[in-house]
Amino acid sequence: MAKLAVIYGTGTGHTGEMAEQIDGGARSEGLETEVILLGNVTENVPGGGRTTSVDDALAIMDSADAVAIGSSTYNMLPVVFVAQLLEKAGSLDLDGKVGAAFGPYATRPKAVGIIIDAMKGWGMDVIEPGLQVSGAITSKIKQESRELGESIARALSEKS
Ligand SMILES: Cc1cc2nc3c(=O)[nH]c(=O)nc-3n(C[C@H](O)[C@H](O)[C@H](O)COP(=O)(O)O)c2cc1C
Repeated sequence: MAKLAVIYGTGTGHTGEMAEQIDGGARSEGLETEVILLGNVTENVPGGGRTTSVDDALAIMDSADAVAIGSSTYNMLPVVFVAQLLEKAGSLDLDGKVGAAFGPYATRPKAVGIIIDAMKGWGMDVIEPGLQVSGAITSKIKQESRELGESIARALSEKS
């Protein structure tokens, strides 16, 4: 079964809400998926949840057939762990894998474009324009996120 890694960084949880929907959409189309919240180290978070270090996320990225990377924009940059992932992922062979980017912003979006540019540089087949949303994660945005997950599954099935 083809595998999608949904990897994201967040400050206050909005990006995670999108990641869960992308995951649901991809699984509904038959993909095996893994959702990864980036953090300093790989550990269970007190009170629930789990973070994954950038290095461990890179290994998961390496073994996946498709990768969706999500980040909100802070001071015109991606979340710091996502920036670190983008810096290091160039050492992997991601050529021809399916890529997608997503993330929320307030008024000045930046992170999704940075992720897409990085993915293109690695030779990934990027689903454009990605999903960049402003404001609260509404039911409409959740549906669009779910549809992005479905699109990733379709892009993968067209390759096989
Ligand atoms: C300190 C700070 C800096 C921010 N910088 C930007 C920015 O440069 N551009 C933008 O569009 N939104 C900016 N935002 C808004 C966040 O991107 C937005 O609240 C987003 O939904 C947060 O998603 P998250 O919970 O996944 O981190 C900023 C928010 C904070 C608190």
